[in-house]
Amino acid sequence: MNCIRTCALLLYTLILPVISIAQVREVKELKTNWKFQKGPEKSAYQIDFNDSDWETVQVPHDWAIYGPFDKEIDKQTVAIIQNGEEKASEKTGRTGALPYIGEAWYRTHFDIPKLHKNQKVLLLFEGAMSEPKIFLNGEKVGEWGYGYSYFYFDITDELLSNQENTLAVHLQNRGLSSRWYPGAGLYRNVSLIIKNQESIEQWGSFITTPKISSEKASVNIKTKTHGENNSLLTTIYNSKGKEITSIASKGLNTEEFEQELFIPTPQLWSPENPYLYTAHTQLFKEEQLLDEIKTKFGIREIKYEAHKGFSLNGEVRKFKGICLHHDLGPLGAAINKSALRRQLQILKDMGVNAVRSSHNMPSLEQLELCDEMGLMFLAESFDEWAVAKVDSGYHRFFEEYAEKDIVNLVRATRNHPCIVMWSSGNEVPDQWGKEGVKRAQFLQDVFHREDPTRPVTVGMDQVKATMESGFGALLDIPGLNYRVHLYEEAYETFPQGFILGSETASTVSSRGIYKFPVEKAMMKKYDDSQSSSYDLEYCSWSNLPDDDFVLQDDKPWVIGEFVWTGFDYLGEPTPYDQAWPSRSSYFGICDLAGLPKDRYFLYKSRWNTEEETLHILPHWNWEGREGETTPVFVYTSYDSAELFVNGKSMGIQKKHEQTPQNRYRLMWMDVKYQPGTLKVIAFNENGEEAAVKEIHTAGAAQQILLETDRSSLRANGEDLAFVTVSLVDKHGNPCPTATNALSFTVQGKGSFRAVCNGDATSLELFHLPNMKLFSGKLVVLVQSSHEEGEMKLIVEGEGLQKASIRLTSTKKH
Ligand code: GAL
Repeated sequence: MNCIRTCALLLYTLILPVISIAQVREVKELKTNWKFQKGPEKSAYQIDFNDSDWETVQVPHDWAIYGPFDKEIDKQTVAIIQNGEEKASEKTGRTGALPYIGEAWYRTHFDIPKLHKNQKVLLLFEGAMSEPKIFLNGEKVGEWGYGYSYFYFDITDELLSNQENTLAVHLQNRGLSSRWYPGAGLYRNVSLIIKNQESIEQWGSFITTPKISSEKASVNIKTKTHGENNSLLTTIYNSKGKEITSIASKGLNTEEFEQELFIPTPQLWSPENPYLYTAHTQLFKEEQLLDEIKTKFGIREIKYEAHKGFSLNGEVRKFKGICLHHDLGPLGAAINKSALRRQLQILKDMGVNAVRSSHNMPSLEQLELCDEMGLMFLAESFDEWAVAKVDSGYHRFFEEYAEKDIVNLVRATRNHPCIVMWSSGNEVPDQWGKEGVKRAQFLQDVFHREDPTRPVTVGMDQVKATMESGFGALLDIPGLNYRVHLYEEAYETFPQGFILGSETASTVSSRGIYKFPVEKAMMKKYDDSQSSSYDLEYCSWSNLPDDDFVLQDDKPWVIGEFVWTGFDYLGEPTPYDQAWPSRSSYFGICDLAGLPKDRYFLYKSRWNTEEETLHILPHWNWEGREGETTPVFVYTSYDSAELFVNGKSMGIQKKHEQTPQNRYRLMWMDVKYQPGTLKVIAFNENGEEAAVKEIHTAGAAQQILLETDRSSLRANGEDLAFVTVSLVDKHGNPCPTATNALSFTVQGKGSFRAVCNGDATSLELFHLPNMKLFSGKLVVLVQSSHEEGEMKLIVEGEGLQKASIRLTSTKKH
């Protein structure tokens, strides 16, 4: 490959005519007609293998999400050293207690039109869980290690053009390979890219915006191509599709182009204004179009400065971030864009401005959505380097694959304006010792080589060790996981002049569940395996949200936080990893169904500065607790409020700085329960009434209430509506303790896809159309078909009147 050199011979004299030969690039998604079978079937790679009795599935597909949940699947006797455990004990549900372990095959057939000798075909996987081995027409075309990586192979030589091709993929998930539910199978998209031999390299374009002012922005586009002596024409369009500028360059004896364009009065990308431009890049041989790609990008400037912190487009701001694992609750790991969109919207409404893909490569869909919706992104890569956390973890691949994995991560995603930081690792045990320091440097150098524009962090939990070894000092951004007591010392010791809360809080709670007495507690366990939503329970290594708020608010050098986690996820049921049944996390600000827990409103009251927040907890249905102390908390954007129980004032509470909780929550600790009405009046800074909220003790459940996140879907066979189902009494008051068993039917041009109630101890299966309410609620996912029209979700439960909701689907959207 020739070295990069500018070929910006501005060919204004040579305005290249676009005479395109047929279609120069075709991207064919391999979604349907896959055959799937679990097991090690040795001959499944062969062309004439008979797969007719295998299950037919659609990709993205997660073979394990259909269960059943089984305690034995991931039972382990281990000491989780990262959690500070010294003695081994029996753990269950760490990886979701779902059957993801084992081998499996996917097979499909596809036709390719007759290829010209100057064409080639790439086979692209956006992730395959895991250790994929890929066979085409009986020949092995390649393999990969890490299940989260994007990778591709050139399959031109193995292809049979103009006739049927047989693609077979072998996957293998080992036990003890993950600390959470990894999913299983072809859980992200697979596609074929048919293009010319002389073409733009896969992930070969790198767009940066090095100079920005209000008058103009420079856009630098580096493009790697195959084939010499070609020319490149790049045209930039604004978000409405209007052409802004273009540049044509001639590549003399080179395959790499560097172009610089200028955009007058640029619209800058930010969470408030996620403005996207499109670069249309066309490669020509003389007048013949060889290849073309369209890349969305944003114009934005990021800076990380000592004692000043992070700024976006010149404005200092903090990360109001959350960590997310990749599973989508009831859908498992199978990627689905509408589920991702809903997840991000719920979080954005809370005031989130940044997402961390813990602890691996994000899906490309998630990045597209973050670009569009205005969420900054911390793209992570690994949970392990060369030293093991789990016996069969990434350490097995580190030597061979770490660099390749980072290269693919960066090249595939670097044009997303949402990404503002990379992470090379999370709490890697390599934080101890000299070798780890070398690895940290090596990985950071690979990131810098591939992308000199973004800094690199590591989420560190061994803060003392990294202060001594130089590990923390070499990072672009020192990230602290928890360890609030070490922030000051780390700031003093590390040279960077700022600290990131790369992972914070790990507070645990179950939606709608409250425990008494109400007190701060570490690793607290109850007989029902639930955690209290008074939001005072945390882990031995973690803390409460308010402790982080203090640091965020009082220390200008803390550049933000990423809360563990935005949504609950499958696996890691701390503090109940020794209690069965418990198979999903309690850490989420929202539960596994995406329903907000109370904590949602605590974060919202601080983070969403556009909207008022006034939220009361607990619910007020405490039959049997009459006369007993039942504290009431209010999460509000206001400073003070007065609480009334059945009209009687419980006094005014005002936020004050005595404890972190007093600073961020209004708490009436001595309220005695009596059924009726809780009313709160919030006051503005002048002491005037600003907002009122009431909740009531609900009577008997009378009606099923259905609320959908959207009523119109795309008729593409994948789009989803999320319908929240709850019970209300005859006055419309929600019944917060209802656990009725319900069943679901979808009629018309759609189907029942899944259901989830957010109960971490439930063993009911997500894909079956029956489930019990948990704390009075659950969410049903209705999926569109390829046909336009109406569909109807019907919900029934014993002793309840049937309820239904109509949805439509259309091809246009
Ligand atoms: C962190 C870890 C996360 C998760 C979390 C639970 O130490 O990075 O992956 O395990 O603890 O609190």
